[in-house]
Amino acid sequence: MARRDLGRWAIVTGASSGIGAALARALGAAGCACVLVARRRDALEAVAASLPPARSLVWPADVSVHESGSELAAALVERGIEPDLLVLNAGFGIYGPLAEADPARLGALVDTNCRSPLLWARTFLPGMLQRGRGGIVLVASTGGLVPMPYYASYGASKAFVVSLGRALAAEAAGSGVGVLTLCPGPAHTGFFAVADAPGPLGSPQAAVQTPEQVAAETLTAWRAGRSLHICGATNRLAMSAGRLLPPTWLDRAARRVLQPKRRG
Ligand SMILES: NC(=O)c1ccc[n+]([C@@H]2O[C@H](COP(=O)([O-])OP(=O)(O)OC[C@H]3O[C@@H](n4cnc5c(N)ncnc54)[C@H](OP(=O)(O)O)[C@@H]3O)[C@@H](O)[C@H]2O)c1
Repeated sequence: MARRDLGRWAIVTGASSGIGAALARALGAAGCACVLVARRRDALEAVAASLPPARSLVWPADVSVHESGSELAAALVERGIEPDLLVLNAGFGIYGPLAEADPARLGALVDTNCRSPLLWARTFLPGMLQRGRGGIVLVASTGGLVPMPYYASYGASKAFVVSLGRALAAEAAGSGVGVLTLCPGPAHTGFFAVADAPGPLGSPQAAVQTPEQVAAETLTAWRAGRSLHICGATNRLAMSAGRLLPPTWLDRAARRVLQPKRRG
């Protein structure tokens, strides 16, 4: 695997909190200027304030909006900024039985977790391929590698991201452009509150990472030229073990672990 640089400018979606904010800080510390994208301007500005001065651009946007990627691309052309690294991290989950999920929220999940990485990659890849450098980090999840009962829409959306990322890595091979699909396991972020979930289920506390640990592993995996990286040794072991088990057994075990407990 060829080693890769981070480049001068990175775009990070979902940079207002959690893994995206930690990634932006790690990229900033490594000398990258960052374009910070998410809906909450105040939170983005707080992240920007923690980066080296004059090394960031705050870009409030809803990535689920069809034109969001191309609008940013046009604004960067105007400013003479050529993005080297595109980190597609914005996303959210929905916890609970699919039969009880709000259809509008399911649509928003598909638009945010699936349609947006697809369209943003389509927007920024041609320039990278033309320049013969840079690349994309797609933040998927270990939930995209295994069955996710009670997180059905989320698991399916992250399986989409894994498939997209692996295919793009193969398409870009030999072009000088890299594609890394990142599969974090559970991490201490706002994810569970947004998903209306009680927290990481079935994971020993030691396996739950901080966003900073995920970000550090991401930069290491990127620099090492990896195309797929599962974060955390415990998660890597669990995913390897899961591949040895019969699918029906794995599905039943996942159901037991993820099944909602009665509240109240
Ligand atoms: N935490 C975990 O256990 C875990 C595990 C595996 C994978 N992941 C993945 O990691 C990524 C980051 O999540 P996180 O854990 O850091 O959770 P988080 O703290 O809730 O962060 C989610 C980020 O996505 C942004 N976002 C959500 N919808 C958006 C939209 N429509 N447009 C623009 N930005 C949007 C949010 O910003 P605004 O609200 O300001 O828009 C926020 O910055 C997600 O893709 C998630 O699926 C998380």
